[in-house]
Amino acid sequence: MLNRRKETGLLAAALMIFILGGCGTQEDPAQEEPKNLKIGVSVYDQYDTFMAEVLSQFQAYTREKEKDWGIPITLDIQDADQNQLQQNKQMDDFIEEGCDIVCINMVDRTDASSIIEKAKSNDIPVIFYNRELVKEDLERWEKLYYVGADAFQSGEMQGQILVEECRKDFSSIDKNGDGVLQYIMLEGEAGHNDSMIRSMAVIQEITESGYVVEKLADEIANWNRDQAANKMASFIEDYGDRIEVVLANNDDMALGAVDALKDSGIMPGTEQWPMILGIDGTDVGKKAVEKGEFLGTVLNDARGQARGMIELAWSIVSGRPLESDLELQEGKYIRLPYRKVTSENLSEIQAGQTQ
Ligand code: BGC
Repeated sequence: MLNRRKETGLLAAALMIFILGGCGTQEDPAQEEPKNLKIGVSVYDQYDTFMAEVLSQFQAYTREKEKDWGIPITLDIQDADQNQLQQNKQMDDFIEEGCDIVCINMVDRTDASSIIEKAKSNDIPVIFYNRELVKEDLERWEKLYYVGADAFQSGEMQGQILVEECRKDFSSIDKNGDGVLQYIMLEGEAGHNDSMIRSMAVIQEITESGYVVEKLADEIANWNRDQAANKMASFIEDYGDRIEVVLANNDDMALGAVDALKDSGIMPGTEQWPMILGIDGTDVGKKAVEKGEFLGTVLNDARGQARGMIELAWSIVSGRPLESDLELQEGKYIRLPYRKVTSENLSEIQAGQTQ
């Protein structure tokens, strides 16, 4: 591997060709074929259900790719424990260890300066994932990339699932028969792109489809099942039967709502059970669709994102072209599509994910 901090003039020249060649997405005959690959990975919180799925898929893909590419791949996976300073320090460790590339799931997506500066001065490309940086930050250096999904699409699809159900049987959703959908919104995290955009897009989709909504309450529960259950318990006390729909920015919070409803004696399948919708399609989320606890969820493609990260990492480091089905938008972004998940297509989705 190239020691990026001690480049000779010749290697620097080769690197220039690599940059001009489009940051590893175009084949570059001048680039030396790597004999191994070392990737530093930091996750904002290893206990986040969705992130845990992304990382386990990433590890699985890495093992597969070692065989395909015939090289050893070393992963150093670190938990930032929701602490940005700790994550900045992890970046120092990755540099120290000689990582060829790093994948960072920012703790605070608005505070990427330190990581970007360190990456730039040590010439180590960064693939940010899941927690999308503002565009201006991503444009600060040509070797910064993002792998994730389009937040708007997930909110829109969540809205579509509810709208499709309303079209089938509005009266069983509008329990009090006032023609208005009374809803609770459980939001992920202040300042998180996915939270802000999903919350806005879902309501836009429902109202633009001609339904009238009334927000009973809207609270942040930090993507977390227990926090959502606590909030939901107090909403049940305040609004009881008036709750017709629960829109959660992710499956874990939707499951928190399920927990609180069951604790208060309201059971799935009964008339009092509201329509509950999540996002992610995690294993536990899909189970909730199967049990009829959720009306639906939206698959956030952990598997596809993990694949996108490893393929992009290899393309950047080796100079080989990116797999043709992965589109690198604006030379920087890979966004995997979301998919609606309801009881109607659950088995098809599950079969697709085990292929
Ligand atoms: C997922 C959440 C997750 C969050 C972490 C979102 O895209 O939907 O489940 O907690 O990312 O950043």
